[in-house]
Amino acid sequence: MPSPVESAIRGVVTKGVVAIAGFNRERKKAKGPNPFLEGLHTPVTEEVTDTALKVTGEIPAALNGLYLRNGPNPLAKVNAATHHWFIGDAMIHGIRLQDGKAVWYRNRWVRSNAVSDALGEPRAPGPRHPRTDVANTNIVGHAGKLWAIVEAGGYPVEMADDLATVAHSDFDGTLGESYSAHPHLDPETGEMHAICYEVQHPDTIWHTVVDTSGHVRRNEPIAVKNGPMIHDCQITPSYVIVMDLPVTFSMSALIGGASFPFRWNPKHKARIGLLPREGRGEDIIWCDIDPCYIFHPANAYETEDGTVVMDACVYETMFDSDLNGPDSQTAKFESLTIDPAARKVTRRVVDPSPQEFPRYDERLTGKPYRYAYTIALPAHLEDGFVGATRLYKHDLGTGERAVHDFGPGRVPAEFIFVPAHDGAAEDEGWLIGYVSNVESDTSDFVVLDAANFTGPPVAEVHIPYRIPPGFHGNFVPRG
Ligand SMILES: [Fe+2]
Repeated sequence: MPSPVESAIRGVVTKGVVAIAGFNRERKKAKGPNPFLEGLHTPVTEEVTDTALKVTGEIPAALNGLYLRNGPNPLAKVNAATHHWFIGDAMIHGIRLQDGKAVWYRNRWVRSNAVSDALGEPRAPGPRHPRTDVANTNIVGHAGKLWAIVEAGGYPVEMADDLATVAHSDFDGTLGESYSAHPHLDPETGEMHAICYEVQHPDTIWHTVVDTSGHVRRNEPIAVKNGPMIHDCQITPSYVIVMDLPVTFSMSALIGGASFPFRWNPKHKARIGLLPREGRGEDIIWCDIDPCYIFHPANAYETEDGTVVMDACVYETMFDSDLNGPDSQTAKFESLTIDPAARKVTRRVVDPSPQEFPRYDERLTGKPYRYAYTIALPAHLEDGFVGATRLYKHDLGTGERAVHDFGPGRVPAEFIFVPAHDGAAEDEGWLIGYVSNVESDTSDFVVLDAANFTGPPVAEVHIPYRIPPGFHGNFVPRG
């Protein structure tokens, strides 16, 4: 942990740096269109509530609850030269399903101070992170509440079921520096595990556990170097898996006006850590891996021979250039074997096709599992990262891959698995998510039968509005 003096120096430096960075950011002129402000990603300009949704097929009556997805949607005009996909006001797109009916679709900005000011509303209550109050990456249900969340920045924001912003929250004063967009719920304990980082503290990350009452009960520091960007993690019964990979904070990128100041750093040693779940930071077992980058793992589990297997979408590099989003589309679906005895990670390609946003039956988090679901990525970067028309289902038992193709001009973003009922088998349930209809600027909420993956959708709710791909969503059961 930095000394108080060191923290104070950093604070002074940061204020000066931020001023210079802001000046340089303003000066930048766009050389062409920013793909994350165009086409599929064009920000939505209105909030709507639609209670007259048309449905094709039959929504499963047991699918009672809210499907919610979060993503950036700048409200004010932004500089196309420097706007980065990962930055920008958060918008939640939600659909309420009840007794086989689509009751409503709503989209709402998460009220940061800037959003409230722009909309002429009183500011939302609750404490703020010193640097930002935007939470634009994921939305989860936990401890009876809905939380819009982001990594290394704005505090979690509690949202109401009708997507109104309730309050910004540091979990009643228990949160450390900042939170993560990718907590993983331990199905055994009901606690959420995350790896958290903060640009002001490039030498430390934290294993943060939020208990079933919604308070941080553990915030264990782990020593690192260079300020690594650690987007996600995974858990097994014994370990938290920490991905310390060579994308790190870049002061020169920040000073140069980058709105997202993380860059590929070949000097940063790539390693994956196994932290004993209740151990001290210094107990972590670091295992070498060839340089690569991972935003998202699928599941992970322990094997009888003491290794840990984690499946993930793996890039050879990331943020090696000055693009306004990911600068590689080449994520292969890989299975990593992490050997704590040999302190090495072995990579095996499961599927070389570009793909992302892996999800699985999350009742099996930390346990052996068979099925992972991903979305295909388009062949060309200029398409704005998302833009292919296919979902993949991997049978990790047989090695087979099934494809669900929505057809020309129909682009899915992340799809998630919802079990058919509490005792349902793995893969017995539905895959749900939004599909963008490029030509008509409309969207569909689509329900696929996971076990009949290549078959026609079980149901499609037609939403007469554009829903940008955004990032991550979840289904939250409600009566
Ligand atoms: Fe993510």
